[in-house]
Amino acid sequence: MAAVEALPGIGVGTWAWGNRLVWDYDPARDDALLPATVRAAVEAGVRLFDTADSYGTGALRGCSERLLGAAVAQGPLPADLVIATKLAPYPWRLGRRAFDRPLAASRCRLRGRLDRVQLHWSTARYAPWQEHDLLQGLADLVEAGVVRELGVSNMGPRRLRRWHGWLAQRGVRLRSVQVQLSPLCRDPLAPEGVLSVCRELAIDALGYSPLALGLLSGRWSLQDPLPAGLRGLLFRRLLPGLQPLQHLLAEVARARGTTPTAVCLNWCRAHGALPIVGLRRPGQVAAIDDALGWRLADAEREAIDAEAGKLDQRMPANPFTSS
Ligand SMILES: NC(=O)c1ccc[n+]([C@@H]2O[C@H](COP(=O)([O-])OP(=O)(O)OC[C@H]3O[C@@H](n4cnc5c(N)ncnc54)[C@H](OP(=O)(O)O)[C@@H]3O)[C@@H](O)[C@H]2O)c1
Repeated sequence: MAAVEALPGIGVGTWAWGNRLVWDYDPARDDALLPATVRAAVEAGVRLFDTADSYGTGALRGCSERLLGAAVAQGPLPADLVIATKLAPYPWRLGRRAFDRPLAASRCRLRGRLDRVQLHWSTARYAPWQEHDLLQGLADLVEAGVVRELGVSNMGPRRLRRWHGWLAQRGVRLRSVQVQLSPLCRDPLAPEGVLSVCRELAIDALGYSPLALGLLSGRWSLQDPLPAGLRGLLFRRLLPGLQPLQHLLAEVARARGTTPTAVCLNWCRAHGALPIVGLRRPGQVAAIDDALGWRLADAEREAIDAEAGKLDQRMPANPFTSS
C-alpha cells in the first residue's frame, strides 16, 4: 500500500494577546484564561506557538511575549515544543547587530524559552539596503548558537528564494516562512507562489490568519453584533457576498461532523502549510483537536478553492509584505 503523506500539524498564534485595537483584548477578562489555553493546546498536539516583539498595543506592548512566557513557564512541556517570536525590523533597527538587544529583550519576556526567531517583514518598502545586513545579523546569531532556528515572514517567492540562497551560502538553514493563508487569501498558492518555493527548498510554510481573523469560523453574520475593535469594521466590509463560501464550509463541516473552523485549518494543511490559529480561550482548542483527526479530501479542497475563487472579497495584506 502507498504511504499516506503526513500533513503539517497546527500551531497557535498570540497576536490578540494584549491587543486592544484590533482584538478588543481585556487583560482583566482574558489574561487568566491563557495558561489553560496553552496547556489545552499542547495536550491537543500543538507543537508551535507564535508571538512577536511588536504585539500588544499601547501600555500592553510586549504583553504577548510576556503572557506566553508566563504560561509556558508553568510547564512541564514536551521537548519538541517550538516557541517562536518575530522581531520587527523597525526603521531605527539598523545594521548587522540591530537585533542583538531586541532578541535579548524578547528572550527575557519569554522567560528564557525561545526556539525560533523570525524576521517579521522585510525592509524592502522603506530601506531595501538594510535587508542583507539584517538577515546576515540573524544568521550570525544562529552561527554563534544564540538562536536555534531562523524563520522569515511576509514575503513573496522571489525574495524567499534570494534570502534562502544568502543563508545557504553560509550553511544556515531557513526553517520557515510565515504568510497569510486562508480561503480569503490564496496568493501563496499561485503556481510559482511561496508554497511552491517552500516545497522545492524544504522550507516549512506557516499559514497565518487561517480563519481570516475569525470571520470564517461561521460565528459572525451581519444580522448579529460584530466584534468590537477594528476587526468588526473589517468584517462589516467582507461579510456581504461571503454567504456561498460560508455555506460550503458549513456543509463540509456538517458532513464531517465538525466545525467550519476545523475545515479551514485542514484546508491549509491540505495545501501543505501549517496553520497558525489565534486562540485566547481553552474552549477554542476543541477545533484543533477536531482538525487533527482527519484530512480534507481532494474534492473538498477543490470545491472550497473554486468557491473562494469566485469572490471579490479578500483579506487585506500586511502593508510590509514584499514580493
Ligand atoms: N507574520 C505576520 O505578520 C502575522 C500576521 C497576522 C497573524 N500572525 C500570526 O498568526 C496568528 C493567527 O492569526 P490571527 O490571530 O490573525 O487570525 P485567525 O487565526 O484567522 O483568527 C483568530 C480568531 O478566530 C477566532 N477563533 C479561534 N478559534 C475559534 C474557534 N474554535 N471557534 C470560533 N472562533 C475561533 C478567535 O476569535 P475570538 O478571539 O474573538 O474568539 C480568534 O481570535 C496570530 O495570532 C499571529 O501569531 C502573523
